[in-house]
Amino acid sequence: MSLLFPIARRLLFSMDPERAHGLTVRALASPALARLAAVRVPDMPVEIAGLRLPNPVGLAAGLDKNAVAVDGLLALGFGFVEIGGVTPNPQPGNPRPRVFRLLEDRAVINRYGLNSDGAEAVARNLERRRAPGIVGVNLGANKESADRIADYAECLRVVGPLVDYATVNVSSPNTPGLRALQDRAALVEIFERLNRVRDEGRLKTPLFLKVAPDLTAEDITDVSAVARDMGIDALVIANTTIARPDSLRSPNRTEVGGLSGAPLSGPSTEVLSRFRDATGGEIPLIGVGGIMSGADAAAKVQAGASAVQFYTGMIWRGPDLIRESAEAIAAVRAT
Ligand SMILES: Cc1cc2nc3c(=O)[nH]c(=O)nc-3n(C[C@H](O)[C@H](O)[C@H](O)COP(=O)(O)O)c2cc1C
Repeated sequence: MSLLFPIARRLLFSMDPERAHGLTVRALASPALARLAAVRVPDMPVEIAGLRLPNPVGLAAGLDKNAVAVDGLLALGFGFVEIGGVTPNPQPGNPRPRVFRLLEDRAVINRYGLNSDGAEAVARNLERRRAPGIVGVNLGANKESADRIADYAECLRVVGPLVDYATVNVSSPNTPGLRALQDRAALVEIFERLNRVRDEGRLKTPLFLKVAPDLTAEDITDVSAVARDMGIDALVIANTTIARPDSLRSPNRTEVGGLSGAPLSGPSTEVLSRFRDATGGEIPLIGVGGIMSGADAAAKVQAGASAVQFYTGMIWRGPDLIRESAEAIAAVRAT
């Protein structure tokens, strides 16, 4: 148990959530400080899309949007870290306040709106990395872009050579119209374009697709078919939800944005298991959403995930959740 986190958490929870986020990222930008908070994670390698992860517990996109703390985040114990979302051009995102804690629900609502320093700045930060470890980029599109598909391609061209995988984010609820790109025809076009970028740049970067947890049964069938046809290397299931379960008690439940954390655990695991059925185990699945305990991580693996990611659980539980998740997954694998 890292002793640093309980003290840090008290301080961070006394602040405005976006300030707390900024401070956390700045602190983790120091690998020495990150090592103080690090946990011991069992060595339990897993292979996904040809990548060998030292353990199956990853950091979900959104915490380190500009890749300023990659070495520190890997030093904490994560088996892989997804940076971003990154947009080709810098953009400020939505006006503040745009992130809210739902204390009574162990949840967060955010409407950051893909604030990004832009692909070039992120690439420069990645060039400064020193430590080895598996890093992916979450590809986004600019809000004002006339051709969002070209945006994903541009981000891959600029950042792809510096990372181990790239995830297409068509599931953020905070960029108007973005989720419409989960439509079958749009997905085919996106992956055709990205495959061309890979060929032109001689990149081997595996391509993942991150979906929303709010898909219908028909959407799940369609996305699974595209994933198989286009050779998508893995599906990341899922992003934040626009749903507001009746169980929510926090006054912040009425805020607009994507809900993450404990209330998302059941619904996102349910969508994961539907994707497992629809893909017949042919495509690796990464389970994300509401992992707040080892049991939640184990449930994702039992529902078909080869690896997991979390973000909101990190806010509530800190690095201990990495170890706890890895151990719970090891226990599932041993049975
Ligand atoms: C503040 C915040 C920012 C996020 N930003 C992104 C993002 O840029 N791209 C993305 O694909 N997902 C983003 N997410 C979604 C997370 O990666 C994750 O899919 C979601 O929060 C569910 O997992 P969790 O319950 O463990 O947080 C963000 C989540 C939060 C809370």
